[in-house]
Amino acid sequence: MSARVALVTGAAGGIGAAVADALAARGYVVVAGDLDGPATPVRPAGAVVPVRLDVTDEADVVRLVRWVEDEVGPIEVLVNAAGVLRPGVVTESSLADWQAVLAVNATGVYLVSREVARCLSSRRRGAIVTVASNAAGVPRVGMAAYAASKAAASSLTRSLGLELAPYGVRCNVVSPGSTRTPMLAALAGSVGPDDVAVLDEAAESRVVAGTPQDFRLGIPLGRLAEVQDVADAVVFLASDAARHITVHELVVDGGATLR
Ligand SMILES: NC(=O)c1ccc[n+]([C@@H]2O[C@H](COP(=O)([O-])OP(=O)(O)OC[C@H]3O[C@@H](n4cnc5c(N)ncnc54)[C@H](O)[C@@H]3O)[C@@H](O)[C@H]2O)c1
Repeated sequence: MSARVALVTGAAGGIGAAVADALAARGYVVVAGDLDGPATPVRPAGAVVPVRLDVTDEADVVRLVRWVEDEVGPIEVLVNAAGVLRPGVVTESSLADWQAVLAVNATGVYLVSREVARCLSSRRRGAIVTVASNAAGVPRVGMAAYAASKAAASSLTRSLGLELAPYGVRCNVVSPGSTRTPMLAALAGSVGPDDVAVLDEAAESRVVAGTPQDFRLGIPLGRLAEVQDVADAVVFLASDAARHITVHELVVDGGATLR
């Protein structure tokens, strides 16, 4: 029997890579798409196949999904993990900032989900999990475009779940809170050697404690999420253990948004 196939976007990033590894550990061949990937996919001996993918480029998305279906195998699981964050208050932001964030976080989810959904529904099998954010459900100072884009991604994914339910295809959302990745380090504003974003102890404590002036409560469980915390939730929703769960949003934020 051929291996089950999963497509993960943003798979060179912190959460995407953890999801790709977790799915590979469960026997999937994982096509790991990311802007930061090789233009020509090579089938290595391992179960993770890195490939360049721009989720904002319709032709690129169509081409990649076709390649996976033809050369790797029928996709069973899609995880939308690609994302970008451009912090800044609305009055100081540009239209280009807004469009760049919406393009990846909302339109990218639409394009990849649409292409994969066509394959899954025709086979009446499969699952889609979108990594949104707890910011999708609460207002955030300096993150308006990001929060709006994640609300769009979450809503799109759950509406798609309704459309695909008659075909037995499930669509769910995982909404992480602050998770130890390069994205969080950049947001927390701590910069290490060679200008690489690192999360220093002071920045981490601030995130965990919360910032009342920004109406951020902090994290009741008292720590950041590790990428594995998020990957475990994604893998659960993608798995047969979640076979009766669809159009659901699972918040993985240590209680930060009280949901
Ligand atoms: N880290 C957090 O605290 C946090 C919290 C909530 C939600 N999230 C979400 O989790 C997901 C993963 O984030 P992360 O923390 O691992 O960030 P990350 O920056 O480590 O990874 C994001 C990845 O997306 C890729 N990407 C960006 N634009 C792309 C495009 N056009 N096409 C394909 N790939 C593209 C990047 O190259 C990068 O590898 C994102 O959607 C993010 O918004 C993260």
